[in-house]
This record gives sequence, C-alpha cells and structure tokens, in this order.
Amino acid sequence: MPDTMPAFNPALAALLARASVPARMLRDPGPDDAAIDLAVAAALRAPDHGGLRPWRFVVVRGEARAALGEVLADSLARRAPDSSPDRLALERAKPLRAPVVIVAGAALRPQHPVPVWEQEATAAAGVMNLMNALDAQGQGAIWLSSAALRDDAVKAALGFAAGDALLGWIYAGTPAADRPRPVRPAPDGFWREWRGADDMA
Ligand SMILES: Cc1cc2nc3c(=O)[nH]c(=O)nc-3n(C[C@H](O)[C@H](O)[C@H](O)COP(=O)(O)O)c2cc1C
Repeated sequence: MPDTMPAFNPALAALLARASVPARMLRDPGPDDAAIDLAVAAALRAPDHGGLRPWRFVVVRGEARAALGEVLADSLARRAPDSSPDRLALERAKPLRAPVVIVAGAALRPQHPVPVWEQEATAAAGVMNLMNALDAQGQGAIWLSSAALRDDAVKAALGFAAGDALLGWIYAGTPAADRPRPVRPAPDGFWREWRGADDMA
C-alpha cells in the first residue's frame, strides 16, 4: 500500500488493499445471501451507457457446484473428445475449489446504438464492483475464465439466454490466512498529463 494512502478513507484503503485470492485458498463460509445481495447492488452502480443494465449473475454453491462440474466436464468432452480421464476429472472438480462460484454474465444487445464493447465494459465494471464489495465484506474472490464460457451448451445449462455472454467464473469464500498480498507497481508509470499538441512533438 502506498505510504501516502489516506488512512482515514476506508473505501480507498479497501480499494488499494484488494487482491485476488487463489481459488484453492477460498474457504467456508462463502458469501451468504445478504453479502451477495450487497455485492450485486454494488455491481449495479457500474457506469451504464444507455441504461441497458446488462449485469446477470448466477450463484452456484453447495451440491450445485458438483452439478456445474459435470456441465464443465461434458463441455470439455464435447469440445475436446480426446481429453484424458484425468483432464476431465480436473475440469469436473474445478467448481469444488471454493464454497461459492458466481457466474458473471452480460445480456448483450447487438442491434442497440451503444456498441457491444461498451455493454461488455459496463458488465465487466459491474463484476469489479461486485468483487470489491465482496472484499469489503471480508470475502476473498478471484475472476477466472475458461473456454467453457464460450460454449452455448454451458450457457443454456446455467439458464442464460442465447444473447448473453459469459464473462467469467467468480470464485468466492473466506480467504486463507496465508493468502498472497502481491506488491503493486507504482502508479506513476501508468499515467501522464497531456499539455497540448506540443507535447507530441
Ligand atoms: C476477464 C478475466 C479473466 C481472467 N481469467 C483468469 C484465468 O482463467 N486464470 C487465472 O489464473 N487468472 C485469470 N485472471 C486474472 C485473475 O483474476 C487475477 O487478476 C490475477 O490472478 C492477479 O491477481 P490480482 O487481481 O490480485 O492482481 C482473469 C482476469 C480477468 C479480468
């Protein structure tokens, strides 16, 4: 955390301290309904060009994680029929790594004047707000992806509409004590001021 961080600002302190927690370091208890409600409320504060409200979240926990594992293994078997039994078992076990998996989707409207990338940006900004809100409630999370996100059969199995995109698997739970706290780069390498056309000469 930068030395200049204003300690009196808890929202900023939380933002500056956030780090992903590897799925294998997420423990019980996972976020309950109240925590998920707050996190989704935070997601709905993301900037939203056109007010299209593209955010769609599906929560998978308990026994349903094993059912999701079957969906993932079936998907892999279809997409890569040569997959070994070990590889399929690995895919099947993925959702069991954390107490809760939140499937982050986006309802997209390709015909709308707001470009699809902006709609996706709104949905992705919502995912980040959701993760920050989980973090603020003492819940760790990590945003993972996989080819299964682009499988229409997976989408359908999870109850998403055909026009929805799946943006990621958000694994959530109580962070293990030895969770990583990565050192971040200094911000000054990532911003600069532009003072007019002469700056580009
Ligand atoms: C859209 C998206 C997809 C991601 N997919 C993966 C993934 O499949 N596997 C992975 O190890 N990290 C993935 N990441 C990165 C992790 O979520 C995380 O950012 C990374 O482990 C670094 O941790 P940090 O967030 O604390 O910097 C993804 C991030 C984003 C935004």
